[in-house]
Amino acid sequence: MSRPPVRFGLVGFGAWGQLHAQSIAANPEAQLVAIVAPSVASREAAAKAHPDACVYSDHRQMLAGTKLDLVDIVTPSHTHLEIATDALNAGCHLLLEKPMAIRVEDCRALIALAVRRGRQLAVGHELRLSAQWGEIKRIIERGTIGEPHYVLVELSRKPYRPGAAGWRYDQQRVGSWVLEEPIHFFDLARWYLEPAGDPVELFAYGKSRAAQRPDLFDNFSAMFRYQNGAYAVVSQTLAAFEHHQTVKVAGSKGAVWAGWSGALDRTLQPSFFLRVFDGEKLEEVQFEKQSGEVFELREEIARCVRMARGEAAPAASGHDGLWSAGLCLLAEESIRQKRPLPVGEMLGG
Ligand SMILES: NC(=O)c1ccc[n+]([C@@H]2O[C@H](COP(=O)([O-])OP(=O)(O)OC[C@H]3O[C@@H](n4cnc5c(N)ncnc54)[C@H](OP(=O)(O)O)[C@@H]3O)[C@@H](O)[C@H]2O)c1
Repeated sequence: MSRPPVRFGLVGFGAWGQLHAQSIAANPEAQLVAIVAPSVASREAAAKAHPDACVYSDHRQMLAGTKLDLVDIVTPSHTHLEIATDALNAGCHLLLEKPMAIRVEDCRALIALAVRRGRQLAVGHELRLSAQWGEIKRIIERGTIGEPHYVLVELSRKPYRPGAAGWRYDQQRVGSWVLEEPIHFFDLARWYLEPAGDPVELFAYGKSRAAQRPDLFDNFSAMFRYQNGAYAVVSQTLAAFEHHQTVKVAGSKGAVWAGWSGALDRTLQPSFFLRVFDGEKLEEVQFEKQSGEVFELREEIARCVRMARGEAAPAASGHDGLWSAGLCLLAEESIRQKRPLPVGEMLGG
């Protein structure tokens, strides 16, 4: 007997929210029951693209008017705390986009509330579900490169989109540009270096190219290290063109090198590769699936369906979301203080 689909309510129908909606609608085990979109224009767009979904202008109306299993929050980052709190209090599981919140104490509050309410909290680090970036984790777990000692995650891309009402270029609402994309790279590097435990120290540099927003860095690099001496480098420039990402991991006996390139971050025809050296031979990994955030988002929705049914853990938990946001905010602090900072001071480790 087929099971009823998992009932999704989507909050936010902007650039990324529309792709969430498509991924939910394309999943036969999921039902896009409701969409929240505040402006008339986005409400009209939502109703046209998804005529079977109820469209609301406020998430509280949706939570009061609809029975949902899971709320998927894809709104500007400063709104995450309030919407996620209301959704958990309404008894829903969450898929909460990164950054889960723009302050560490807010991340902690959400984790605690999810536990109190007995609900699952998944954070939108979909790179973990990538055929390409996920394969690197599996290579490390198989021991092919030995103990991981060094991770580099680097991105060179065109400037960020402004977002609805320009929120992404307003520090109060975006929190930090490190919380936008480098947050994924902190998460990946920390995931790959999981065998080393928790990071202990972090040092970062940042440079804006616009005098009117000196603290939103177009160029950003951070290094963080572990007790055993392993370390990671996370680096990004937004002052470039197209979208080109590199990951390198070196271990005690081998190494991997992966690259992803597209004219746009959401291209459906990216070029990408992954080369693995086990200390003796060099191999090119062959992929059956495409790599890229649009493909990873579909995997993320599928994972959330299983999570809501109690069949799987989130790919990235609230704890992972706290760490990724916390490392970003610590990097901002390191740039302000111009010195390396102990990680434990901020994350209570
Ligand atoms: N995981 C990833 O790879 C990834 C990629 C991109 C973005 N993100 C994250 O996803 C979130 C949204 O990013 P985006 O690029 O989609 O931004 P966006 O294009 O600006 O879209 C945000 C949408 O949220 C709506 N909104 C604003 N306040 C709201 C509220 N209180 N309740 C309900 N809806 C509200 C806006 O509606 P109106 O247009 O009607 O005003 C807008 O359509 C951000 O947190 C971002 O960091 C994650």
